[in-house]
Amino acid sequence: MTTDGLTYAGRLSDFAAGTCHRVRAGGRTLVLIRHGDGVYALDNRCPHMGFPLDRGSVDDGILTCHWHHARFDVTTGGTFDLWADDVPAFPTTVVDGDVWVDLRNGRDELAHHRRRLRAGLEQNLSLVIAKAAVSLVEGGADPREPFRIGLEFGTRYQSDGWGPGLTVLTCMMNLLPHLPPEQHARALFHGLSNVAGDSSGSPPKFEVGPLPDAPADPATLKRWFRRFVDVRDATGAERCLLTAIQAGTDQAAIADMLFAAATDHRYLSTGHVLDFTNKALEALDIAGWDLAETVIGSLARGYADAGRMEESNAWRRPIDLVEILEATFEDLPDILAADIKPTQWDGRADLIDTVLGEDPQAIADSLTDALRQGADPVELADAVTQAAITRVAQFHVTNEFGDWDRALHTLSFANAVRGGLARSGSRELVRGIYDAAMSVYLDRFLNVPPARLPSANGHTSGAELLASLPDLLDRQQQVDEAAGLVVDYRATTAPVESLLESIGGNLLREDRDFHTIQAVEASIHQANLSDDPADATLALVAGARYLAAHAPTVRSQGQTFQIAQRLQRGERLFEEAPA
Ligand code: FES
Repeated sequence: MTTDGLTYAGRLSDFAAGTCHRVRAGGRTLVLIRHGDGVYALDNRCPHMGFPLDRGSVDDGILTCHWHHARFDVTTGGTFDLWADDVPAFPTTVVDGDVWVDLRNGRDELAHHRRRLRAGLEQNLSLVIAKAAVSLVEGGADPREPFRIGLEFGTRYQSDGWGPGLTVLTCMMNLLPHLPPEQHARALFHGLSNVAGDSSGSPPKFEVGPLPDAPADPATLKRWFRRFVDVRDATGAERCLLTAIQAGTDQAAIADMLFAAATDHRYLSTGHVLDFTNKALEALDIAGWDLAETVIGSLARGYADAGRMEESNAWRRPIDLVEILEATFEDLPDILAADIKPTQWDGRADLIDTVLGEDPQAIADSLTDALRQGADPVELADAVTQAAITRVAQFHVTNEFGDWDRALHTLSFANAVRGGLARSGSRELVRGIYDAAMSVYLDRFLNVPPARLPSANGHTSGAELLASLPDLLDRQQQVDEAAGLVVDYRATTAPVESLLESIGGNLLREDRDFHTIQAVEASIHQANLSDDPADATLALVAGARYLAAHAPTVRSQGQTFQIAQRLQRGERLFEEAPA
């Protein structure tokens, strides 16, 4: 019964003080509690995992859920256990001994779940993060909103700066267009929980701030930035970046500043510095460049602390790759400054063969020749990325398992070089193409012998093939089978979008893993960029092989997400007798 917008809940005399009473009112199940002079109405589902709160107990105004013992203030529904969340509370009125509940004007759910997401990130609570992601995305929020919350949090509350968690979060946003809408919250959850995991236990990053008053010109700041990175001074380097941003330096020039320093030394931190830079810039494209100071500032520490491959044995002996590269780089400024007419460069296939070959001097020379012929650096970076894809697609499973990561690092780096060149046109970043090619060269042992690339065996139903992928990934090491499935699918007339959706969906079924997420994202990205169907297939073969090599996992992330989703949708986790 409803009158004046209030819903009848029962006679006050029926509710004994200090006990919980389950009541159906206005289509909801409530728990009514008399306490002191008042009577209070709360939603009966425990916000933690849905246990009926009327089965809890009340003592001194605190309601305790009997499942995991979360405690709530009966007057407001506020919890004392942040992992549980507040219970929605509804105002009550007593008229002539009748209790009426006002079920209108509930709390602002989107605002509440934004706050909950921040709390989940701060406390590193996966279930809270999952519930917030589901509630925000399925409640109609733009996915960029939780992404931005995670980005702001991860760049401030991580003293080491940008790391794997923020990279995973950005990869997930890049994958969203290839996933069905019902998977968007799950993708965000994977990314956000990685960010929370990275920040857990880390002190916050202290503000550095730009130089006061009179900013130097962009060319000077770029020079200073490279100089501070060279001497491993993270604070000085960050100040240069922040000053350039605050002075209104354009985005391409900021990117150029970063990419120049990222390639002043060879293959910094096995490619992570450049890969993280590329992802940070992609993150700003998604979330907005108003976060540039926080996001770009978070990169400086990684630049200063990076391992430099000129200090590594593999890049020095038995062949001194650094010497080859430094000699080559002497000619680059003149080549890049020369007025070479852009040509229809047709050396891609030969270049890929050379990069996959055995002669590092020939690799460097081929790249330089291509530039002299007028090849666009982005095209060259794309060819080297395809060579890196081939290393993964033909990675032989007799290698040590950890070597998958080695092939992945090269692929991520090459992919970042290509993205950075397309974004900024940075001349210094052209050195990154050579670094990527040398890393492909160093990875050549991963293809000895090369895994055989499958050929299509006549399947005609793309849908059937995709339906079989989850079963395949339930078994360990179905690497070649996954490659075969991709090749078979590509031989059908089924749309490539469904294959991308399926690979992406199966990625989200597994537990979070930084490298696997990077591998799948890079392979899908490469496949999308490619005009050549054979190249695109090879990229997807690489992604599917990497995923299959790292499946199955225990899938605890999926279980947490499923609980959150069922709670948000009002499904029962606990079998409750009807009221
Ligand atoms: S504390 Fe209530 S369901 Fe877990």
